[in-house]
Amino acid sequence: METDFLVIGSGIAGLTYAIKTARYFPEKKITIITKAQADETNTKYAQGGIAGVWDDQKDSFDKHIEDTLIAGDGLCNKEVVEIVVTEGPERIKEIIEYGARFDKTESGEYSLGKEGGHSENRILHHKDVTGSEIERAMLEELRACNNVELINHCFVVDLITQHHLGFLVTKSTPDIQCYGVYVLNLHNNQIEKIIAPITLIATGGNGQAYRTTTNPKIATGDGVAMVYRAKGRIENMEFIQFHPTALYEPGVSPSFLITEAVRGDGGILRNKQGEAFMEKYDERKDLAPRDIVARAIDSEMKRAGTEHVYLDCTHMDKEKFIHHFPNIYERCKKIGIDVMQHWIPVAPAAHYSCGGVKTDTMARTSIQHLYACGECASTGLHGANRLASNSLLEAMVFAHRAYIDTIEKHNKICESPETQQHWQSQVPDWDAKGTTYPKEMILITQSLKELQQIMSDYVGIVRTDVRLERASRRLDLLHEETEELYKNTKVSPQLCELRNLITVGYLIVKGAEFRKESRGLHFNTDHLQKSALVQNIIL
Ligand code: FAD
Ligand code: SIN
Repeated sequence: METDFLVIGSGIAGLTYAIKTARYFPEKKITIITKAQADETNTKYAQGGIAGVWDDQKDSFDKHIEDTLIAGDGLCNKEVVEIVVTEGPERIKEIIEYGARFDKTESGEYSLGKEGGHSENRILHHKDVTGSEIERAMLEELRACNNVELINHCFVVDLITQHHLGFLVTKSTPDIQCYGVYVLNLHNNQIEKIIAPITLIATGGNGQAYRTTTNPKIATGDGVAMVYRAKGRIENMEFIQFHPTALYEPGVSPSFLITEAVRGDGGILRNKQGEAFMEKYDERKDLAPRDIVARAIDSEMKRAGTEHVYLDCTHMDKEKFIHHFPNIYERCKKIGIDVMQHWIPVAPAAHYSCGGVKTDTMARTSIQHLYACGECASTGLHGANRLASNSLLEAMVFAHRAYIDTIEKHNKICESPETQQHWQSQVPDWDAKGTTYPKEMILITQSLKELQQIMSDYVGIVRTDVRLERASRRLDLLHEETEELYKNTKVSPQLCELRNLITVGYLIVKGAEFRKESRGLHFNTDHLQKSALVQNIIL
C-alpha cells in the first residue's frame, strides 16, 4: 500500500495530526493504523482533564510555566514549556470546536479543576471521563474527512529504513530515513508494507511494562522500541510516573484510576492508622507533585506492611462528588465501597512515560521524514516528572507543530524526485522464510509476566544500584530467549509486544543506571543527592 501521510495511532496525538493534515491536503490520502479498536487508547481513559490557562483573572501563562518547571525538577526544556503553555489554549479551543464538551459552572463558565503541583484551578474536564469525551469528539470529526482511511487491527511491526534496503545503519548514520512501515494485518495474518513519504508515530505509553498499571493493554511501548531498533534517538526513559491513587483491587488489570482531581476537590490520603500522612512529607500535602505523593504512599505502605493506603472522601459533599466523579462513584459502588461511608483503598500504579522518542520543537525525530508526538515522544516538556494533565495538552500542541512542519516538508520531498520514490520501489517484502507457528503461546505470556515482575520489583518507585543490576541481568536472559523465538516463529502481536516491552524495560534500566542521582521520578537510595550537572540521558 502507498499513502501520502501515514499516522500510527488513533489517540489524541494521531487524530489531531490526521484531522489537520486531511483538511489542509484534501486531495491527498491520510492513513491511520491502529492495532486495536480505534478508540482503545490511553486517551480514552484520561480522567482529570486538560490543563490550560483559561481564567486570566487569577491564572497566567507564567504560573503554569512555573508549575511545570517545578514538577520537572530541573530537566524541562524551558522553551518547550513556554511553547506548550502558550499555544495550549488555542489547541483546546479547537477540540471544543470539534465538539468536546467540558463541564461548566451554573454561571456558564468552564469549571476548572485542580490537581497535584498546580498553583491554580486550570483543568478543563468532562466529569471524570474527559478522555473518552475527547476521543469521541475527535473520531466524529475524523469521519467528516473523506480522504482519511482508518485501519483498525493492524499491528505495526517495524519502521522501514535504509537498513531494509541492505545498507548498514548505525546510531551515527547521519541521514537515516523512514520510508514507511511493515504491518501485521490481523484480518489476514499477513505482513504487508505501507510506503509513505511522511510517517508520524503516536503510539502512546508503555505502562504494560509493569505488573500494576493504569494503562490499557495497548500501552506496550511499540513506537519507542521501533525507533530504537531503527537507530533513532530515545531519551529520559528512566522517568516513569507512578500515579499515586489507583484503586487497589488485586488481580484486576489495568488498575482503575481514582483521578487526582478527587484530591483537588478535598480527598485526603490516610494510612492504616487513619493518619493524614501527607503533611509529614510536603507542605502542599495531598496536592504535592505526583513523584512526592507516590513515594510518600510507598513509604507508608512499607512501614505498615500493607499493600495500599486509603483515600478519604467521606467528608465531601455527596451531590457534588457524584456530579464531578460519577464513574468513580459507580465503580467503587460495584465493589462494595460507598465512597461517602468508606475510605477507598488505593496504591500507586505505573501511569505515564515522561521519556521516549527524542523530538525537536517541531516534533521531528532523529530519523528523517518521521515525526513523533504524544506519550511516545520526549519533547522536553516534562523533564524528570510530568505535571498532571499536561500530557493531553502536549500531544495536541506537538501534533499541530508536526502538521505545520509537514506542510513545508511535504513539498520539499515531492520536489526531489531522486529521494523517496527511488528508494521506495526497492523496499523488499517481509521475509518470513523458515519461521513456524509458535508451539506454546504460553511461553510468551509467561515471559511477559516475568518482565512485569522484574520491572515492578527492581525498577519501581524506589530504586537501588543492586536492584537495577539484577533487573539488567534478568532482562538480558529474557531478551536472548525472546529474540530466539522471534527469529524462528511467525510474528504475532503478543510476541511483538513482548519484544517491545523488553526493549522498553532495557531502556528504562539503562537510563536509571546512567543517572547517578535522585531527581524527579527517578529515586535511587544509593544516590540521594542531585548532581550539579543536569542532563538528559540519550540512549
Ligand atoms: P494513545 O492515546 O495511547 O494512543 C496510542 C495509539 O497507538 C492507539 O491507537 C494504539 O492502538 C496505537 N498503537 C500503539 N502501538 C501500535 C502498533 N504497534 N501498531 C499500531 N498501532 C499501535 N493525561 C492528561 O493530560 N490528563 C488526564 O486526565 C489523564 N488521565 C489519564 C488517565 C489514565 C487512566 C491514563 C492511562 C492516562 C491518563 N493521562 C492523562 C495520560 C494521557 O491519557 C496519555 O498520555 C495520552 O492520552 C496519550 O495519547 P497518545 O495519542 O500519545 O496515545
Ligand atoms: C488523573 O486524572 O489523575 C490523571 C491525570 C494525568 O495523568 O494527567
